[in-house]
Amino acid sequence: MTATAFSTTALALLALAGSASAQIGSSYCSANSNSTGGPSVISATGSTDVALNDVTLACSSLPLNAFGYFVTSQTQAFIPGPGGSSGNLCISGNIGRYAGNIVSSGSTGSVSLSIDVTALPSPTGNYAALPGDTVNFQFWHRDAAGGSVTSNFSPGLELTFDSAGPTFSQDIYPMLTQPNINAPECVICHGSFGGLNMGQDAASAYASLVNAASTSFNCQGSIYVIPGDFQNSLLYDKLANPTPSCGSQMPFGGTFAGDVTVIRDWITAGAVF
Ligand code: HEC
Repeated sequence: MTATAFSTTALALLALAGSASAQIGSSYCSANSNSTGGPSVISATGSTDVALNDVTLACSSLPLNAFGYFVTSQTQAFIPGPGGSSGNLCISGNIGRYAGNIVSSGSTGSVSLSIDVTALPSPTGNYAALPGDTVNFQFWHRDAAGGSVTSNFSPGLELTFDSAGPTFSQDIYPMLTQPNINAPECVICHGSFGGLNMGQDAASAYASLVNAASTSFNCQGSIYVIPGDFQNSLLYDKLANPTPSCGSQMPFGGTFAGDVTVIRDWITAGAVF
């Protein structure tokens, strides 16, 4: 019974950790049903900002224990049944294969792959995605249809890369208001009292953090966020360091459900709203 309770907690933690990452990209091109009876689903999480190099591809609703790999190209297409496959190829041109990253859909019928956006495969070697590039991905996998071995494809996924950097309104504010399993979200304790008031809306939370000094008894005078300087920003210090320069690590008595690396990148990139 204890073991079950532990694993349930671990799963909940994983689910929460996953939810901190945003869905990116959009699906295009239709997939044929695979041997599960329906088409698979492709998605991506992380950031389209090339500087963050944070993209994880995922494919679900796959047949169980099927091997396959992601393929990629900057050119979209619609090629039904390439080479006798049961699926549709949604890319053409310079097709690169993640052939060194063959993955199995295992007992869940799903796969994921964290990719390096500075080394996307192509027939002429790896290349780095640049801001403005639209890169397409698809998952190819083995399957069995009516007893004979075939293959199939997921729909296509289109990602347009940028260099916007994380923004407070889209990336940071949701983290500060996000509940987690061990502690309430920041705004439960920093929502209405004292100088740090993040509880109204994104604009007022931004105003109380960026270039604003703490007035609390033990951190008085420290600036929460100094654009371009994460090391001297109290917000980063209180989240990243087990023993911050003043008081305790935040969230008080719990674990941060957001991503401290994104907070660091946001401050480094100028802490824009
Ligand atoms: C359970 C209540 C609680 C939660 C949740 C909480 N804090 Fe705090 N926070 C405190 C207390 C109490 C202090 C004052 C003592 C200290 O500095 O350690 C504080 C102090 C701080 C300070 C520095 C002092 C100030 O107020 O100017 C910062 C910055 C901070 N918290 C950020 C956060 C962030 C960001 C989160 C969410 C990830 C968070 N806190 C979640 C209770 C909480």
